[in-house]
Amino acid sequence: MKFLVLISALAVFLAPAARAQGHGCEANIEDSLKQDCYPGEGASEESCRARDCVWCPVAEPNPDNIPWCFVYEADGSTPGPLPGFGCEENYLPGEDRVDCAPGEPTNEILCRNKNCTWCPYEEDGVTPWCYIPGTPSVGGYYMVGEPITITNGLRVNLIKAVANESFTFALENRPNPKAWEGEAETLTLDAEFQSNYRLRVKIYNTTSRFEVPLNVQAPTGGNQNPLYEIQFENDPLFSFKVVRKSTGTVLFDSSAGQFIFAEQYLTMSWAPASENVYGIGENEQKSFKHDFSQNITWALWGRDQPPSFTANMYGVQPYYTVLENDGNAHSVAVVNANAQQFSMNSGPVIKYITTGGVLDFYFFLGPTPENTVQQYTEAVGRPQLPPYWALGFQLCRYGYNNIENMKAAVDRTAQYGIPHDVQYGDIDIMHKALDFTYSRENFPGLPDYVKELKTKGIKFMTILDPCISIGEDPEEYRPLKLGNEMDVWVKKVDGSPVVGRVWPQDPVYFPDYSKNATKEWWKILIREFHDLLEYDGLWIDMNEPANFVDGDIDGGCTQNSLNNPPFVPRIQGNYLPSKTICGDHVQEAGNHYDVHSLYGWFQSEPTLTGTREGSGKRALVLSRSTFLGSGHWVAHWLGDNWSKWDNLHFSIIGILQYNQFGVPFAGSDICGFIGSSNAELCQRWMELGAFYPFSRNHNGIDYVDQDPGAWGAAIAESSKNALLVRYTLLPYLYTLFFRSVTEGNTVARALWHEFPQDPATRNIDRQFMWGSGLLISAVLDEGSTSVDAYLPNARLYNYFDGAEEATKADSITIPTPLDKINLHVRGGNVLPTQEPAINTEISRNNPFGLIVALDEEGAASGSLYFDDGDSIGTIENEEYFLADFAVASNTLTSTVVKNGYAEMSQKKLTTVRLLGAGTVGAVTVNGAAITSFTTLPSGEVLITSLDLNPTTPITITWA
Ligand SMILES: *[C@@H]1O[C@H](CO)[C@@H](O)[C@H](O)[C@H]1NC(C)=O
Ligand SMILES: *[C@@H]1O[C@H](CO)[C@@H](O)[C@H](O)[C@H]1NC(C)=O
Ligand SMILES: *[C@@H]1O[C@H](CO)[C@@H](O)[C@H](O)[C@H]1NC(C)=O
Ligand SMILES: *[C@@H]1O[C@H](CO)[C@@H](O)[C@H](O)[C@H]1NC(C)=O
Repeated sequence: MKFLVLISALAVFLAPAARAQGHGCEANIEDSLKQDCYPGEGASEESCRARDCVWCPVAEPNPDNIPWCFVYEADGSTPGPLPGFGCEENYLPGEDRVDCAPGEPTNEILCRNKNCTWCPYEEDGVTPWCYIPGTPSVGGYYMVGEPITITNGLRVNLIKAVANESFTFALENRPNPKAWEGEAETLTLDAEFQSNYRLRVKIYNTTSRFEVPLNVQAPTGGNQNPLYEIQFENDPLFSFKVVRKSTGTVLFDSSAGQFIFAEQYLTMSWAPASENVYGIGENEQKSFKHDFSQNITWALWGRDQPPSFTANMYGVQPYYTVLENDGNAHSVAVVNANAQQFSMNSGPVIKYITTGGVLDFYFFLGPTPENTVQQYTEAVGRPQLPPYWALGFQLCRYGYNNIENMKAAVDRTAQYGIPHDVQYGDIDIMHKALDFTYSRENFPGLPDYVKELKTKGIKFMTILDPCISIGEDPEEYRPLKLGNEMDVWVKKVDGSPVVGRVWPQDPVYFPDYSKNATKEWWKILIREFHDLLEYDGLWIDMNEPANFVDGDIDGGCTQNSLNNPPFVPRIQGNYLPSKTICGDHVQEAGNHYDVHSLYGWFQSEPTLTGTREGSGKRALVLSRSTFLGSGHWVAHWLGDNWSKWDNLHFSIIGILQYNQFGVPFAGSDICGFIGSSNAELCQRWMELGAFYPFSRNHNGIDYVDQDPGAWGAAIAESSKNALLVRYTLLPYLYTLFFRSVTEGNTVARALWHEFPQDPATRNIDRQFMWGSGLLISAVLDEGSTSVDAYLPNARLYNYFDGAEEATKADSITIPTPLDKINLHVRGGNVLPTQEPAINTEISRNNPFGLIVALDEEGAASGSLYFDDGDSIGTIENEEYFLADFAVASNTLTSTVVKNGYAEMSQKKLTTVRLLGAGTVGAVTVNGAAITSFTTLPSGEVLITSLDLNPTTPITITWA
């Protein structure tokens, strides 16, 4: 028997008892006969008596756990049944449960005494265990009349379906169903045929609902021959289908489940075209391709959350791509920022639920996987071109703690000859963790050291958190004073600033970056900061926004529908204000309830603009929190990952996702952030990380040093060698970024993007490509010294020796000792290269080369983009060099497409590696025979000692 605790705090929530008869101590039952009437906790006198039991508190202490509420046996009666329902009478799946006690503590007795259903959820405690009884709300709408033609599309008017026989409730005694509050009686669906490849379907009620202020760019081309068709059904209820016209494939069929549009609960379920679904973030996913057999729910709500399977993390990316079974591809963006979730259920069915806004779908019809990303980024904004130096290796740690440790890491890296382009400071370089400061105590002379680094060709990036400490004297701390003057803070309902706690010792205010004044304030501070510390770029952290308390520092959050909505997606903490501010806090763009997940997104543009104004250069901004279209301004690191082998594999998935999301400049902290790394893991991670688009080794505080020079000569050597390959290929990488800026292509690319017809590529997420030309296959498992690599159906050449692989469209096991990573060049590509160096300031001036890898037809193509690497707007201003290379009939020719970068004419192209040409007996360059070539044992023809000017057309022939 358990001692029954009366929790007085809970009792206040009790509804008045229905049957308050029962009995008191006068029943006079012997202690040994007392039979617990309420096993479990939390009975109160009312709930006890309501069950016809005896309520008789026992004096403390109560070592024998004599119950306070026990069965009245005097007349042989047994306890009356609890009101309400249990799982057997009224089981509902989690997402159909309307919380009976939002935000209140509850238990079985409290719950059932409200006539609600108590049914602990089998999986976790995220969904309510106490819910308003009913059958699943069916929802549903009917179409009124025929679709109406509107400009570039169709409009459908919808009216809420009235529940019919089959939707009513079978069980006796069950209270009326509680529908979701405020179900819209009428809705409008607009299908806009925005272009032949872009369809928007927006379902809305009145214009008063929140809509994401996403600036969607107009598409190019007309809509005369759309690749899609939209079909409407009205029986038994309204649903719509998006169909690919050329194949008849149904891409989206909303008849797969409920359609409810209520004030704070909007749901639609649809069948995707296949199970090859990729995307939705930001969550740690264990495979790039979703697994529909597991019914996994992915909740999205920006949160300071290290990767943990299914947990909602920093960013919100409601966007996915489907590879149709025939190899066509399309993608879908759901433009909604409210707390939401996608359940990938068997069927396959995607069940979507959001807690606000409107249902606003954009379909991008491809038909190639790359097309979908091109079309999506055209809509939400293409990436910025990273500065050339940013493609170099970057080094960071939280917890250098003093300038000596920072210098030691920099020196170790240099001592081993490891390329190094960017050094970082984390919050420990700040004075008392205050933005826009550095610690003169722990980092004396940092501004001079930053200048010194620059003379060595190393750039400096530092960190900013969004919040501002209020513990400083405003007269001495300009961010606070100016912020007060410019009125930049997120407010409580009463108009006073929200107060939270993050890294500074004192509480903080939260700037409202959705407000113009805040953007101006932030840019001023960033510009002025450059006078103190000559940063070359900034990383913005904690912008979910993170908070170390839930809600406001004093008093948390008020109990109301914005803080405790009737449905909470399966987010960590099961509470919207968990680790952040309250839903009813007020921002210019809306209630925090609606704009929470846009916090980092609103901060991104002003940070980039301010950083460019401060540095006068192109600069780089990294953001932890992202939303649809963030890639237009910022790059992304995958957050506070773990120094664990799993995270090495998952990093590839995250990087492929962010490339799909239009944020190609993405990478994961090399060697892991949380926990001490180890030699083998860090060695493998340095090798893989050398091929992240964004390549940064970053460590957390108090863990063992993990910079590549910290592990001794062998690991330093393999790190250096992997990075030297990266640096050799930087012109290729930079050209891929040029394509992402101008055409929207991915940089890091999944194999199924290049081989969409090959089903074997669809599950591959342990290998990836750079563009179409380089395949990367690293060891990802502890203790392993080989890689089972899939070699797609193409001519593939070993990067290191140029030997052609015999295997095609099959897996092979490649021995891969600790110091090795496997790289293959794919036939059909011309990869521009440059002799590597210790940093890009030097390597930029080294001679160029070409890797010419021939396909089955002896053909290949590629490009070289180059500019000064650091100016703003080189593409728009046409201050760049671009050459195209083409190979056919044993002849390589170059065509200068743009010659807008004057220094290019001083550069040389000296080497060509020709792969797949067979035995070559003669080579001519621009018509003249040369002798400086040799056929290596691997079959590679190496042409050296060229003295070519890249800005004049080149012709090389061989026979
Ligand atoms: C619970 O239901 C019973 C029977 O229908 C009713 O008498 C009672 O008032 C209800 N209690 C509450 C708290 O609604
Ligand atoms: C739909 O619009 C009506 C007014 O036309 C409004 O009363 C209702 O609250 C709206 N419902 C939702 C869910 O927005
Ligand atoms: C997923 O849901 C389906 C349909 O509800 C069910 O049949 C199946 O057993 C579920 N699978 C798992 C792994 O829960
Ligand atoms: C904020 O600035 C933008 C861009 O300059 C402008 O379009 C908008 O009207 C401004 N908003 C307010 C509320 O002043």
